[in-house]
Amino acid sequence: MTNRSRKPYIAGNWKMNLDRAKCLDLIKTIKGRLGDGGDREVAVFAPAIYLADVTAVAQGSPLGVGGQNIWYEDNGAFTGELAARMLREVGADRVLVGHSERRHVFKEPDEWMGRKVRIALDRDLLPIYCVGETLDERKANRTDRVLKRQLESGFDKVRPEDAHRLTVAYEPVWAIGTGETATPEMAGLAHKTIRKWIAQRLGDTAANTIRILYGGSVKPDNARELMAVDGVDGLLVGGASMQADTFIPIIEYDLRQTP
Ligand code: 13P
Repeated sequence: MTNRSRKPYIAGNWKMNLDRAKCLDLIKTIKGRLGDGGDREVAVFAPAIYLADVTAVAQGSPLGVGGQNIWYEDNGAFTGELAARMLREVGADRVLVGHSERRHVFKEPDEWMGRKVRIALDRDLLPIYCVGETLDERKANRTDRVLKRQLESGFDKVRPEDAHRLTVAYEPVWAIGTGETATPEMAGLAHKTIRKWIAQRLGDTAANTIRILYGGSVKPDNARELMAVDGVDGLLVGGASMQADTFIPIIEYDLRQTP
């Protein structure tokens, strides 16, 4: 049985895609479609340079708008970086931390993760902390070990009372942008590992509160199946979140027939 004690959370990560006009167009369409939001939480993670405009359009709707990365200091000589307080100031209410592209393309080390999650919480941004193994790690049966190591760093400064503001995304690196999706069984096992780890670290109440999203080649035709997996509380969508005609069916995964 799927545990729906946690509100489903469907998030789009636009990465370094779209232009300003397309971002605004898309957010308008999603906002129009979403109405009062009702029983699900929906958010987009837009390029930082467009956040002020996107949040202005999203205003008055339950849509969340977030940044894709932050640095963990408030000020200083950190050329090219953005502070959590800056994203908050332009209206963002959430942020991704430790996305696989940050870890693997930009070589962000585990050591930064706990401080990034902490500053997000302290500056009133809702973090989605991303974890996930590479193909080599999966083949070497190291998935659990990698997830636990990443959780260890990201949760370093998290307290049980932060649980309702924190989300984890399980994004197997080999499934991102590849068209390969984790099978429901793989997703289920990884989510179970993550929730068990959280329970041991922060207690059962926190573990039952924190939502764990799945990400990696989520499409309209697999969203329903993934959301049916026990312990999958939502979806973090890349490519398919960049067009209304693919993102909206994912948001409404349970409201229509899958093809
Ligand atoms: P895709 O949905 O394009 O595989 O990207 C997933 C992702 O990285 C979301 O953060």
